[in-house]
Amino acid sequence: MITTAKKRLLSGMQPTGGGRLHLGNLEGALRPWIARQDEYEMFCFIADWHALTTVAEKKRDIAEASRQTAVDFLAAGLDPAKCAIFRQSDVKEHAELHLLLSMVTPVGWLERMPTYKVKRELVSENDTQVSYGLLGYPVLQTADIIIYRAQAVPVGRDQEAHIELSREIARRFNRIVGEDVFPIPDAVINNFTGELPGIDGRKMSKSYDNAVYLSDTPKKTQQLINKAFTTPAKIHITDPGVPEGCVACQWRRVFDPVNFQTQWDECRAGLRGCGQSKKELGEIVNADLAPLRARRAELEADLSYVDAVLKQGAERARAAAAETLTIVRRALQLT
Ligand code: TRP
Repeated sequence: MITTAKKRLLSGMQPTGGGRLHLGNLEGALRPWIARQDEYEMFCFIADWHALTTVAEKKRDIAEASRQTAVDFLAAGLDPAKCAIFRQSDVKEHAELHLLLSMVTPVGWLERMPTYKVKRELVSENDTQVSYGLLGYPVLQTADIIIYRAQAVPVGRDQEAHIELSREIARRFNRIVGEDVFPIPDAVINNFTGELPGIDGRKMSKSYDNAVYLSDTPKKTQQLINKAFTTPAKIHITDPGVPEGCVACQWRRVFDPVNFQTQWDECRAGLRGCGQSKKELGEIVNADLAPLRARRAELEADLSYVDAVLKQGAERARAAAAETLTIVRRALQLT
C-alpha cells in the first residue's frame, strides 16, 4: 500500500497528429502541471487509446507519436522523479475499469455529451460510421481518472463536461455497489490567461494548422509569429491597436507578464507598429523556449531514456491502478 499525504493529480493528453505538442498545450496544460508537481502526487499520461477514436490516427504510427509527446513532457520540465509519466495502453487496468464502468453508464448520458455531438457531426460529414469507442470516449476518460482515485484533474474548458460526467459515473457506481469505492474527482479548470490563441486568432489546434510547436526552430517560430492576426484597422504605426483582439498582444501577455502592459499601451496609443511588436515577441518566445529546445534535442538523441521513463512510469501507475481494481472487483463480487 502506497501511503502519501499528498493529494493525487491526474491529467492526460492525446498524442494526435504525430504527438508533437504546441505552445497552447505548453501554456494550457504542461506548465500548469509542472507548477503543481511538488504539491501533488502526479500522474500524467499519454492517452493513446483515446487517439484511436479518430479514423486518421488509426493509420498513423501511434507508438512514435506517443514517444514524441513524452519527449515534449520531459523537455518542458515534467520530472519523472515527481510524476508518473506513462502511456495509457501500458496500463491495461484502465481497459478493465472502462469495461466495468460501461456496465453502469446509461447510453443517454453519453449521447448527450456536447463533445460527442460535435464529433458525430464531423464523422457523418465524412460518410463513415460512428464507432462504439467514440461514444464511450468519456467512459474511458472516467476510468483514467478514478482508477487513481485522483482528486484534482486539471483540464481545459473543453473537457469540463467530461469531468462532470466522470463525477456522475463515479457516484452511480458507488450507489449501485452501496459503498464509497471512488472519491468524487474535482476539476481544476485552467484559467483563460494561460490560454494562447492560434496564429489566426482561433483556438490553437493541430487541425487548424495555426500552431507553433515546441519542436519548431526559432526561425520558423519567428516566421509564424510574423503572420499572427493583429488589429485589421491598424495599418500605419500611428493607427490605434486593440490588444484584446490581437494575437501578438495576447501572446505577449502570456510570455512577458511583467512588461506586456507598456507594449499594450504603446500599441493602443499608436506609438508602435505590429512589425516591431512581432519582432520583440519572437525574441521573447524564442528566449523562453531556448532551454526547453536544448533539452528536447538531448532527449531526441537518447530515446532509450525516454522509453525507460515511460516504462518506469507505467510500473508506478500500474501499482496504483491495481490497488483500485482489487477494491472494484471485490465490490462487484468478481473475486
Ligand atoms: N480527453 C482529453 C483531451 O482530449 C485527454 C484525456 C484522456 C484526459 N483521459 C483523460 C484528460 C483523463 C484528463 C484526464 O484533452
